[in-house]
Amino acid sequence: MPTTAPPDTRQSDLVRAARRESVTRTPVWFMRQAGRSLPEYRAVREGIPMLESCMRPDLVTEITLQPVRRHGVDAAIFFSDIVVPLKAIGVDLDIVPGVGPVVAHPIRTAADLDQLVPLTPEHVPFITEAVGLLVRELGDVPLIGFAGAPFTLASYLVEGGPSKNHEKTKALMHGDPELWDALCARLAQISGEFLRVQAQAGASAVQLFDSWAGALSKADYAARAMPHSSVALAAVADLDVPRIHFGVGTGELLGLMGEAGAEVVGVDYRVSLTDAVDRLGPTYAVQGNLDPALLFAPWDALERRVREIVEEGRHAPGHIFNLGHGVLPTVDPDVLTRVTALVHECSSRP
Ligand code: CP3
Repeated sequence: MPTTAPPDTRQSDLVRAARRESVTRTPVWFMRQAGRSLPEYRAVREGIPMLESCMRPDLVTEITLQPVRRHGVDAAIFFSDIVVPLKAIGVDLDIVPGVGPVVAHPIRTAADLDQLVPLTPEHVPFITEAVGLLVRELGDVPLIGFAGAPFTLASYLVEGGPSKNHEKTKALMHGDPELWDALCARLAQISGEFLRVQAQAGASAVQLFDSWAGALSKADYAARAMPHSSVALAAVADLDVPRIHFGVGTGELLGLMGEAGAEVVGVDYRVSLTDAVDRLGPTYAVQGNLDPALLFAPWDALERRVREIVEEGRHAPGHIFNLGHGVLPTVDPDVLTRVTALVHECSSRP
């Protein structure tokens, strides 16, 4: 049992920016900041499969802390994966290196839904334990918990693995909308409860990853994905944690992603922060949106782009600096450290 109460992260720049309050400087973190770009990550993961590492609180704690120590970012993102809650309820799946999640028995019929029982905290004691350890280690640095959104999880479950075109997923969505909604309703409970477990254990904010939502038209997103994401986000509405809602290629969906029940909307690099704020209005903070590939550009070009994004963000109701998608494994981690320092320096409020 903890002997001291966890420190208050409510006044951190990350939580304040998410709540559209004033900040001392623009908070910054990077999606996939923990992972293969760091030699210290590759060292501790040596010989340990991805899913096993997600279920060991000692490893989760160490890996989550690594980028905070190294880069001085304003938040830690909990080290786990969107398929961890599915594994925890007994879905037969694995994360294959260089491929991603692969599912042994893809979901195609009503009978296949039996694999998806409701998630309870008893399925994921290792998450509660790891979050508790982390919150004590992190002090006043906030921890961001996360889950996959129903549509993105459904894509892995229906396709059986990663997919470029989501053809089986869309065939099910349109061919059998009732089964689709039944599948996504189960996933919404699982995602929502996974967020709730992390928030109740001490995470200061949560992010719902709907990475593949950009594959949907606005009409299909509104009818068949958004209602389920709303249920997942509503699961933590009564807890004092800002909710970040992220997708890739979702320029057309930004307004709906806010309306689904988020305080912060993630913006990828295809839409400028200025345009995103025009589309979203004053009700939401934004997160983003450096192109991850620009981390490979000469420093002058990268610096110019970082300064532009910080400047655009100053006109947003609230801004959390991030990439438009995850850190690529081949990036030089020193560049991330340098970008973090630059964002802090050029956004510092007198
Ligand atoms: O952001 C972080 O630092 C926190 C950790 C995190 C991971 N996965 C660790 C991970 C988070 C937030 C995720 C979310 C996730 N997982 C998403 C949504 C975000 C996104 O990138 O769009 C998705 C779609 C997945 C599914 C998944 N898991 C993929 C596509 C892969 C990559 C496969 C590969 O090897 O290229 C994984 C595995 C995975 N998840 C790794 C990490 C660090 C790589 C595993 C390794 O190091 O071997």
